[in-house]
Amino acid sequence: MRISTYCAVLLCIVAQCFAASHKSRNTCGYDSCNLGQANKLNVHIVPHTHDDVGWLKTVDQYYYGARNDIQHASVQYILDSVIEELVQNPERRFIYVEIAFFWRWWNQQSNDTRNFVKELVNAGRLEFISGGWCMHDEATTYYNSIIDQHTLGAEFLRDQFGECARPKIGWQIDPFGHSREVASLFAQMGFDGLFFARADYQDSDLRNSTKTMEMIWKGSANLGRQSWLFTGLLADFYDPPDSLCFDRSCGDQPIIDDPSLNDYNVPERVQTFIDAAHDQAYGFATNHIMMTMGSDFHYENANLWFKNLDKLIKYVNAQQTNGSDVNVFYSTPSCYVYALNKVDRAWTSKTDDFFPLGDTPHGFWTGYFTSRAALKRYERHSNNILQATRQLNALSQINLRNDIFYLSEAMGIVQHHDAISGTEKQNVADDYAQRLSEGIDKAADVINNAYAKLLPNESEIPMNATQFLCQYSNISECLPIEGQKQFTLTLWNPTIHPIIHHVRVPVTKEYLIRDPMGSIVSAEYVPISTTTRNIPGRKSSAQNQYIFTTSLPALGFSTYYFEAKSGEKIRKQKTTTTRNEACTLENEYIRVEFDDHGNLHQIINLEKGIAVPFTTQGFYWYTSFAGNNSRPEFQSSGAYVFRPLTSKIQPVSTTRTITCTKTETVQSASIVFNAWASQEVSLFHGMRTVEIEWTVGPVPIDDNVGKEIIIRYDTDIESASKYYTDANGREVLERIRNYRPTWNYSIVENVSGNYYPINSRIWIKDHTRQLTVLIDRSEGGASILDGSIEIMVHRRIAHDDSLGINEPLNETAFGEGLVVRGKHFLILESPENSSRIHRVGAQQLFMHPIATYALPQTSYANYSKAYHQTWSALSESMPLNVHLLTLDQLNPRQFLIRVEHYFELNEDDIYSHPVEVDLQAFFKSLGTITDLTELTLGANMPLSQLHRLDWRTTDKESSHIDMPKYSSLKDTIVTLNPMQIKTFQVTL
Ligand SMILES: *[C@@H]1O[C@H](CO)[C@@H](O)[C@H](O)[C@H]1NC(C)=O
Ligand SMILES: *[C@@H]1O[C@H](CO)[C@@H](O)[C@H](O)[C@H]1NC(C)=O
Ligand SMILES: [Zn+2]
Repeated sequence: MRISTYCAVLLCIVAQCFAASHKSRNTCGYDSCNLGQANKLNVHIVPHTHDDVGWLKTVDQYYYGARNDIQHASVQYILDSVIEELVQNPERRFIYVEIAFFWRWWNQQSNDTRNFVKELVNAGRLEFISGGWCMHDEATTYYNSIIDQHTLGAEFLRDQFGECARPKIGWQIDPFGHSREVASLFAQMGFDGLFFARADYQDSDLRNSTKTMEMIWKGSANLGRQSWLFTGLLADFYDPPDSLCFDRSCGDQPIIDDPSLNDYNVPERVQTFIDAAHDQAYGFATNHIMMTMGSDFHYENANLWFKNLDKLIKYVNAQQTNGSDVNVFYSTPSCYVYALNKVDRAWTSKTDDFFPLGDTPHGFWTGYFTSRAALKRYERHSNNILQATRQLNALSQINLRNDIFYLSEAMGIVQHHDAISGTEKQNVADDYAQRLSEGIDKAADVINNAYAKLLPNESEIPMNATQFLCQYSNISECLPIEGQKQFTLTLWNPTIHPIIHHVRVPVTKEYLIRDPMGSIVSAEYVPISTTTRNIPGRKSSAQNQYIFTTSLPALGFSTYYFEAKSGEKIRKQKTTTTRNEACTLENEYIRVEFDDHGNLHQIINLEKGIAVPFTTQGFYWYTSFAGNNSRPEFQSSGAYVFRPLTSKIQPVSTTRTITCTKTETVQSASIVFNAWASQEVSLFHGMRTVEIEWTVGPVPIDDNVGKEIIIRYDTDIESASKYYTDANGREVLERIRNYRPTWNYSIVENVSGNYYPINSRIWIKDHTRQLTVLIDRSEGGASILDGSIEIMVHRRIAHDDSLGINEPLNETAFGEGLVVRGKHFLILESPENSSRIHRVGAQQLFMHPIATYALPQTSYANYSKAYHQTWSALSESMPLNVHLLTLDQLNPRQFLIRVEHYFELNEDDIYSHPVEVDLQAFFKSLGTITDLTELTLGANMPLSQLHRLDWRTTDKESSHIDMPKYSSLKDTIVTLNPMQIKTFQVTL
């Protein structure tokens, strides 16, 4: 029924449509924008729908409109209806944001509909804004995945629509705080503007009263103008003004414009609109404002919105003859930005970020920095697999990019601001995890196929055993290898530098382990801790594990062959164990001292002769505030908000036990605080970082008291209120306790208001010492006292914070509270030498070697004859400060490659300088580069074709930069400046 109406409409309109479209063909750019009138208040009406890629329902339930009992929302009908309504009036505009949904819809459309939608896009009537797979979270996402999810959306848009669909504006209207790195990445994607709706209430009040709702955000402290981005805070959240919502979900009065009727209301409706426009204009600097006409899942019946907007525009503008100064028209965010650009004025600039978000005195949205700690880790783990899979696919030339799409798509979805943020219902969180898991399964097939090409010595030899992942290795479980007579472990190093890597393999027997040269590996055979063996859901019967050191080639693999040696005597390393005695872990660089009560007493950097005594180190909790949320002072802690009852922390226990185990490879202290909190502190031979593996849960809440678990590191470092946290894994920002750089901050929440998102590292320092903690997933953290770092690792809360989920954040598994395990890495160094350790450490942590196992039913002698046991894609060594961010095969001859300088300016004597890298080196095994085109960061256009709008700041600076004129490079040698990422399409 719907389709036939639509076709009928399409047919009758076709003539008119073609007449209009010949005139308006490819009128999608800035040139066709309505720039308003100079002496009027110009109101840009932006019809939009905010479609969460999962929140209370799963992404597919939202798409189809299933489970409307949970929330009435149906994206397929929104898109159907909007397209139908755009046909009715060529003035109408609509923006669409979430490509995860649009892609689902597009796949189901006929060619006629597709062609018609293309016309709308080319005419600028349907505009894609942001164009990522989702509207990603900004606090808990890693830059690699932000770039990927935008690239995924941009690739779809470019392939289906071309230049008219290239997103030019960032649209982050719902995320809960805004990261400077995101502004920088968006600028590098070629965006001309960014809009969002949530900023701290003190900040937005000040901006509103000083007409600085819009500004130039300097997104990077390293990259200069190419990171600057025009940024605006929306006037009225992202909703329409009060009483002017015409969606089916709103109860506001339609425009009744038959003057013969008693209910005729045009004068009132028009006056309401004009008042709202003047009210919004208060905080804005020019005679243009943008009115967001839409909200969550609006436009399911788009006729309601558009019919009333058509009338509103007509009747409001008619008042101009009576002296009204309001000029209103359909527009888009890009046209609004262009109109402001044409106003030609200077804008204030900003160099810090928009974290944390406080929307009321007690409502700091800092809980979600940690919420759903296991999902946050799983996302990072999935990215690790995704990048390695792309590399293996490219380097083995197996052309299975389509099979990697499932994981790319799942990763795109999980970046959503109610996904990795942990602010979704439990069912939906489970759906995200399932998508990742299914994506990984497909990726594992690609990995297996890639190794089937890379491993055999001669192409005739088929691979006789499947490579598989053991994804429970973090709980020392790998069932398929249990009891096997022989198996292989192959490690893929996704970094472009050779690395030393320590492996743990849980086993049920003793084995001889051979390295790629055939030599017997000297491996430690040590018991798996009781804590690990007791983790709920662990099925493994392995009681012991091998720990050994591997050295892996750059961008390549090494295979270790395990052969059971029952009955025979195996040379074992000497292991000493002490219980509840003082102990010291020590290697050539570091000493870690514990007292006999299991307290971390001191860490010494032996090389530099610097020491940090710890007054406390270990697990504490904040009691979650339990309120009814009826007033700001009754704000509960929940999935979004961290609100402690008091600023007092409770230790999880008053005593602890300590067991120290020393072998040649590793020395470790296993410290058990209580039945649900423990840590294993390990110092590996040759390493400059101290590894802390923490295990927390099931957190007891049978007392109905929510608990927010932190790890505290309290030292005597004179940190003078300052601490440093990274943004999305890249640049580091200075934080000052109880302080905001751009306004006079009045403090109400002295713990939560000091929490910041951490994605890879936090540090404190004084003149001689810097203590850095690297983390393995996004977490919230702070320095509440001088000398102290605290990191929230897990949350289990009995109440809801009334921000929409309507469920307490109470994750369970196996019938009890969820157990979460993760790692912190401590680095004690002088401030000037810290960067090279934490930069390299963080890079190796997020691009960890990928372990696959196989069960070849063949002896070592036969195996080693048939297969390569080590291989590297690189023949020359790469500069330490360069990272291979993306290696993706597009088709048999073309590749997408991103290389990155991952040091900041002035942080290291050697590595903070520009560096050269030869791209040909990555393709040594594949062929010769014949064409090299530098692209924007989103990989959707040649950089040479990019022309961003220029802006001026009130400091008399211009954002103008000359873009490179060339599109193809002759030379394959590329220069990278600190923190620069360059993106290329390579043709062989
Ligand atoms: C739709 O268009 C595609 C691409 O032009 C074409 O391959 C396909 O056959 C068309 N389908 C129909 C049903 O016309
Ligand atoms: C800005 O201030 C004006 C005047 O107080 C007020 O009417 C308007 O709602 C404020 N807007 C925002 C976004 O705070
Ligand atoms: Zn949202």
